[in-house]
Amino acid sequence: MFPTPCYILNEKDFRKNLTLIRSVAEQADVQIILAFKAFALWSVFPIVKEYITHSTASSLYEAKLAVEQMGNKAHTYAPAYSDKEFDQIASLSSHITFNSLNQFQRFYPKAKKYNISCGLRINPQYSEVTTDLYNPCAVGSRLGVTAQQLSTQLPEGIEGLHFHTLCESKSYDLEKTLTVVEEKMGHLFSQIKWLNMGGGHLLTHKEYDIEHLITVLKRFKAKYPYLHIILEPGSAFAWQAGCLHSTVLDIVDNDGIKTAMLDVSFACHMPDCLEMPYKPTIRGAYEPTKGKPTYRMGGNSCLSGDFYGDWSFDKPLKVGDTIIFEDMLHYTTVKTTMFNGVTHPSIVLLTKNNKLKLLKEFCYEDYKSRMS
Ligand SMILES: Cc1ncc(COP(=O)(O)O)c(C=O)c1O
Repeated sequence: MFPTPCYILNEKDFRKNLTLIRSVAEQADVQIILAFKAFALWSVFPIVKEYITHSTASSLYEAKLAVEQMGNKAHTYAPAYSDKEFDQIASLSSHITFNSLNQFQRFYPKAKKYNISCGLRINPQYSEVTTDLYNPCAVGSRLGVTAQQLSTQLPEGIEGLHFHTLCESKSYDLEKTLTVVEEKMGHLFSQIKWLNMGGGHLLTHKEYDIEHLITVLKRFKAKYPYLHIILEPGSAFAWQAGCLHSTVLDIVDNDGIKTAMLDVSFACHMPDCLEMPYKPTIRGAYEPTKGKPTYRMGGNSCLSGDFYGDWSFDKPLKVGDTIIFEDMLHYTTVKTTMFNGVTHPSIVLLTKNNKLKLLKEFCYEDYKSRMS
């Protein structure tokens, strides 16, 4: 057992996801690339590269990581590019998608010099996502160009279209989205070479209908054989492939509510639990049950709302017990903060040979170096 706090990536589960993703790409004859925004543990990119070769970047740093650690130029999309960074981004990208016609017009001359395949993000104003925080098609969304803003002819230099409208979605959501995209923008397809269907395809979820996804993609490809199809999921790569281990440091009982005080923080180390919000699964715990020892989990930052509850356990918790939060890799590991200077969880790999390998340990200098 590694000292907590630590994130543990399970290589066997990770490879299972990668195997499935590669097999979908092969069967449907599409390109699937990794969205770094969801998963960027570059120490394991050598494993990723056994299955897929490319990645999508949403910033200069992610584009740098693509070239440096994946060994390939990025498919880049950012909501807005700056004059200061564009040249560097262009030198690190094979494809660049622009969020608006203004941005495309501004940077196309430079992109042309770097031989970039340029694309435009479209907003079909249709999404099955119900949480507004994750809905790129909410009314007034800043993301992508709507059909009304496009004429029948795309500007010269646009070779691709990109839409991202899904979030932890099913193949049936993609199917419905494609119908709308075709209805609204299908007349533009003959003018482009590639179509990027974004992320949000949770194809490694146990209930995801893989055969249906392949059918939908094949049908689409048969209709538009000249289009290179790209999917750029993130979560699906690390879905259920790792967890966050923590230790109970204290148990506080106030107003009849028992809180297990942990050496991890929801605010710093599991931010989506508070943002989305969603209740994570704790190994061996279950929904509050009468007669069972029941606790809130308390984070170790000073934010009053840094807690989540409740869970019941078979036995009362005690100081020193391990609490394991399941499925805590995708987005979590890239979104962490060092708020309060709380000790940052190490990153550990549980190898396919069942050995624990430390990938990264954080220290005071990591905290200090982010400020001056
Ligand atoms: C443009 C774009 N592509 C890909 C993704 C990855 O999505 P997911 O991790 O849900 O598969 C996102 C997520 O926000 C995104 O905004």
